Amino acid sequence: MTLQDVRTVGVVGCGLMGSGIAEVCARAGFQVIVREVNEDLLRKGLDRIRASMAKAVERGKLAAAEMEAAWGRIRGTLRMEDFAACDLIIEAVVEDMPTKKQVFAELDRICPPHAVLASNTSSLSITELGSVTRRPEKVIGFHFFNPVPVMPLLEIVIGLQTAEETVALGRALAERLNKTVVISKDRPGFIVNRLLIPYLLDAIRLLEEGVATMEDIDTAIRLGLNHPMGPFTLMDFVGLDTLLFIADAMFEEFKDPRYAAPPLLRRMVAAGWLGRKSGKGFYTYAA
Ligand code: CAA
Repeated sequence: MTLQDVRTVGVVGCGLMGSGIAEVCARAGFQVIVREVNEDLLRKGLDRIRASMAKAVERGKLAAAEMEAAWGRIRGTLRMEDFAACDLIIEAVVEDMPTKKQVFAELDRICPPHAVLASNTSSLSITELGSVTRRPEKVIGFHFFNPVPVMPLLEIVIGLQTAEETVALGRALAERLNKTVVISKDRPGFIVNRLLIPYLLDAIRLLEEGVATMEDIDTAIRLGLNHPMGPFTLMDFVGLDTLLFIADAMFEEFKDPRYAAPPLLRRMVAAGWLGRKSGKGFYTYAA
């Protein structure tokens, strides 16, 4: 199958990443079916897409008529069975292997045999996800970055059994979405998170050791390295629960202390301080 055969894209999960992926696919002209587990999460996800598109119109990145056309191409659902109508499905559920495996096994049962199954995982094994399907050659990693409509990178992850044809479809999709591709082998964290996660965890260690305040650490990185966000602002932006899932998955595989989550991170997640999305993380956010 090539990208020309893709009419309808399915997106599993309408959280921060799923909503962004659904948005860029609809803006690129695909019909999109996006699924959440309950009405409340689906409504929040669809509201997030609409607000993001409205911001794009406000910033002159999208014509108002194009926004309405793209919005008209998106359909929300609570039923996995609706993915039977999709040619390409991108999974963006929680960063937890048992949950993702369950989703992939279900997608394999529901989706047509030609359909490609992609995961937006930021650290987990594509080969392992492919192993629960009867089509491991059509299973691939499409790692998008938050905010998806703004970040220009697509990290494509190739499992041991991923076919060249599936990689070619990924490259064509990236071109259609106006993203630049980098290719990574199936190793925890791929390229970006292999480097990003130890850096973020080290920032927490620096804070815990009392070397500097989080505000000064953020300022140092923003002004000293020209990063758009310092590490604490970025962790709140990514979500502390997501960061913890990724760190745990990487530690599980490498057993390297660089990937071991500092106690403060685990306590904050236990307290429900998840970053921007919960109103409190390292910083506090207005509702
Ligand atoms: N659609 C299209 N374009 C949009 C948009 C939307 N919804 N919202 C904003 N934009 C555009 C703006 O028009 C602007 O474009 P120009 O530069 O051409 O004017 C640009 O995006 C920046 O927007 P803003 O001015 O509103 O915002 P900002 O300058 O404060 O930047 C930011 C916001 C892009 C988030 C920036 O702070 C940033 O890049 N932060 C770092 C983000 C990052 O590192 N993300 C990766 C996280 S890691 C991850 O996702 C993966 C993982 O596995 C953990």
